[in-house]
Amino acid sequence: MTTKTVLITGASSGIGHATAQHFHQHGWNVVATMRTPDDSELHQLDNTLVTRLDVTDIDSIDTAVQAALDRFGGIDVLVNNAGYDTFGPLEAVPRDAMVRQIDTNLVGVLDVTRAVLPTMRTRGEGVVINISSVAGQMTFPFNSLYHATKFGLEGATESLAFELGGIGIRVKIIQPGSIATQFWGGSLDFHDDPDLAEYRTMMDAISKAVAHLQENHHAASPPSVVAEVIYRAATDGTDTIRYRAGDNADAFFGLRDGKTDEEYIAATRQQYGISPG
Ligand SMILES: NC(=O)c1ccc[n+]([C@@H]2O[C@H](COP(=O)([O-])OP(=O)(O)OC[C@H]3O[C@@H](n4cnc5c(N)ncnc54)[C@H](OP(=O)(O)O)[C@@H]3O)[C@@H](O)[C@H]2O)c1
Repeated sequence: MTTKTVLITGASSGIGHATAQHFHQHGWNVVATMRTPDDSELHQLDNTLVTRLDVTDIDSIDTAVQAALDRFGGIDVLVNNAGYDTFGPLEAVPRDAMVRQIDTNLVGVLDVTRAVLPTMRTRGEGVVINISSVAGQMTFPFNSLYHATKFGLEGATESLAFELGGIGIRVKIIQPGSIATQFWGGSLDFHDDPDLAEYRTMMDAISKAVAHLQENHHAASPPSVVAEVIYRAATDGTDTIRYRAGDNADAFFGLRDGKTDEEYIAATRQQYGISPG
């Protein structure tokens, strides 16, 4: 059997890094892509190409995909993992930060997918795995931009299931709950504006909830748990599209399931201590 190849974006840390290690342990060729590859310890792994790919830089995408094809001859599985969270009132987020969020989490995923599809299409097989979130199917306060990207990603992925399923390529959505990575630390793009007084009470309540999440990160599941689910999605040979990952993913969806939109918004306001205006 020929050795299979996975290309992963955002492999410098967290879920992407754990996924690179996991596929390597299972004997795969790994293309671990990241914005700053020089210091990565993944260089020490055999059958692993560590190379630069910024999902907002189309030239870097094309160069990395070509390097993967030159080294390993094909790409069997693409893991679109790179992403981060722009958090805060929509009005407080500068426009360039808003655009960067959508460029990274949504346009970047579509650009990398478009770059990898030709090799999968001509071989008539492949799996595209998009890392969404529980936030791809349910919402939380003051997170409109992140939800725009993850809901958008899930819609795009579901639609791609039709056109790509027809030519032998499977698409998958991974929905992690809370995972102990840089996500709520260095990767969080937090915005607030003290001049926007009308949001003050709500933002104070939300900021407390975010601080609690950052302090209690040890309660989150390790990224290796998500890596295992990604590997299962890559190899199970099924047409299953959505996979939840992490200890509390089901609990999050449990807050939403069975409620109308209005009931969910009322219950979530209460949970975060936000009263209606
Ligand atoms: N952790 C959670 O609780 C959680 C829950 C649900 C979903 N997720 C999703 O899981 C994915 C991975 O996040 P994580 O938790 O592993 O956080 P992380 O440790 O912060 O990793 C995020 C990765 O994305 C990379 N990245 C950011 N912008 C990029 C760009 N323009 N081009 C290429 N790479 C870029 C980062 O690279 P740099 O090192 O260069 O910054 C980093 O490698 C994200 O899509 C996130 O939305 C996370």
